[in-house]
Amino acid sequence: MPPPEPIPLADRVAGLQSRLDAFRRSLEPFAYGAPEPVFMAATQEFLEFVRTYPDEEAYAEWERGDSTAQFRAFFAPRVLRFTAAVERQTHAELLAKSGGRAGGPMGPLLGANRWGAYARMADILAHLDLAACRTFLMAGCGPVPDSLFCVHDHTSVERLVGTDRDPLAVGMARQLVNAFGLTRIRIEQADAGGTDYGDVDAICCSAFLAPRRAIMERIASTAREGCSIILRDPFFTGTLLFERALDALPPRLAVVKELPAARSRFMLKYYLLRAGTRSTR
Ligand SMILES: C[S@@+](CC[C@H](N)C(=O)[O-])C[C@H]1O[C@@H](n2cnc3c(N)ncnc32)[C@H](O)[C@@H]1O
Repeated sequence: MPPPEPIPLADRVAGLQSRLDAFRRSLEPFAYGAPEPVFMAATQEFLEFVRTYPDEEAYAEWERGDSTAQFRAFFAPRVLRFTAAVERQTHAELLAKSGGRAGGPMGPLLGANRWGAYARMADILAHLDLAACRTFLMAGCGPVPDSLFCVHDHTSVERLVGTDRDPLAVGMARQLVNAFGLTRIRIEQADAGGTDYGDVDAICCSAFLAPRRAIMERIASTAREGCSIILRDPFFTGTLLFERALDALPPRLAVVKELPAARSRFMLKYYLLRAGTRSTR
């Protein structure tokens, strides 16, 4: 039998468009309100599509059509609501494990709930020399600052600071830090776009920080020379969820390492950046 005819690119792009339209219809009613199980299931299905969609050529062609930003504006807030619901559940489960555990490592407690953030940070630490780091800041730490837990478990950095602009997230993160007696971690309410990063040696940016590009500008204008920055930027279908910051990186921030891309829930890739001298701006 002859091999099947290849499907023309235009048809594959049309197929992608109709899948995205279908996800849009299924998530349309869920902009606000409680995260109903049907919303959680539909979002999970959409994220699975984002993670497994195979056709890079069709996606690149679809992106040329200029509707990525419009779809992202629709999907991103829903994915954030989904993430917040998962984090609330993780928070409650972690808190329930806090009795008598003060000061111990957090990794084993996160178990299946850690959603990869703790493990991913452990991978990054292998590429980041924190020997001279005195202050490490996680911008947009959320209610479960698992990246900071990882840095706390695996390094002796003196000051670990988590910031979030949402007072609810700040209160929940503080609750965990206090319950587990993590005395090197401090949680503060702050907008990443207005923070002065001048006293910080290393910064990890949550992918969910918004607006992403303005925050990179803020880091570039306030960080000290030599400051390390961990950036999570979308690749391939990840642009349905996050705007690329790398495409508009301020010249003062240089990419020193690009970690290999691995397909995961949000299709994000890690970059290590370093702030150069101020004269290079
Ligand atoms: C999904 S959560 C937690 C992050 C997650 N643990 C991670 O590893 O990326 C993202 C958090 O970023 C916060 N956030 C978004 N934009 C921000 C900004 N401009 N300044 C501070 N926090 C911000 C949100 O309030 C939210 O709590």
